[in-house]
Amino acid sequence: MPIFYGKASLMNYLKPIKALHSTIGFVPTMGALHQGHLALMQKSLLENENTVVSIFVNPTQFNNSEDLAKYPRTFDEDVKKLTALNPNIILYAPEVVDIYDGTPLAEHFDFDGLENQMEGKFRPGHFNGVGTIVKRLFEIVQPTKAYFGEKDFQQLQIVKKMVAKNHLNITIIGCPIFREPNNLAMSSRNERLSALERAEAAIIYKILTSVKAQFFTKSTAEISEWVQKSFRNNPTFVLEYFVIADEATLLPCTRKYKNKKYRAFIVVIVNNIRLIDTISLN
Ligand code: PAF
Repeated sequence: MPIFYGKASLMNYLKPIKALHSTIGFVPTMGALHQGHLALMQKSLLENENTVVSIFVNPTQFNNSEDLAKYPRTFDEDVKKLTALNPNIILYAPEVVDIYDGTPLAEHFDFDGLENQMEGKFRPGHFNGVGTIVKRLFEIVQPTKAYFGEKDFQQLQIVKKMVAKNHLNITIIGCPIFREPNNLAMSSRNERLSALERAEAAIIYKILTSVKAQFFTKSTAEISEWVQKSFRNNPTFVLEYFVIADEATLLPCTRKYKNKKYRAFIVVIVNNIRLIDTISLN
């Protein structure tokens, strides 16, 4: 499998591919690859002549230094998984200095307010970091299509907004959440959970499916109260936020409109590990 640690050598490798107008699918990741990542890559491999995967734990999107330090790093395992999936995948695995000259600093972005909701409120600066890295990776790889999981739905909407605002010729594809057998959304952070925490985390999706069932008969305030009560009764999990929001604007839903799409968003913390999940409601 071709592996590049520097942007210059990657761009050099991609030059003849671009000259032939051969399509490039791109899957940016922070490594610790799981089935959800591999599903994005499978889709890219089906839809494009070439697939580039990046593995880079981007420091500027972490507002919590412990979360950054403890983020799982499993590079050798990741390479094995990628090679087994398809040895033609092109891997870009830069060091911080290859992406950021000098001190890693995030640019400031205006995503028309999408950045101020949910993750933006609880992880200040997070989306400036995400915007910075995704923009740089897009400049380096210049993909035809790029693939993002719907687990980080706010990130997906923000990347779409960035592409639209900058008139980039890249199609952003959102892909459904991959779940563990107990329906916990797959995430690299799940590696940090104990076996018991991982099993008990099944409660998150159970609550989300119940929220979906209640959506047409109860108000969003009543549903939120029910979710908060459910977590108060379960001390292992601390509810960071639960929001029912408009899928397009990400603004909290106070009144339901027939022509709008809504989604429930949740973050719970167990033992300092943030677990994020979401479900479409209508
Ligand atoms: O979703 C992720 O893994 C990261 O936020 C991304 C898109 C790779 C940017 O660092």
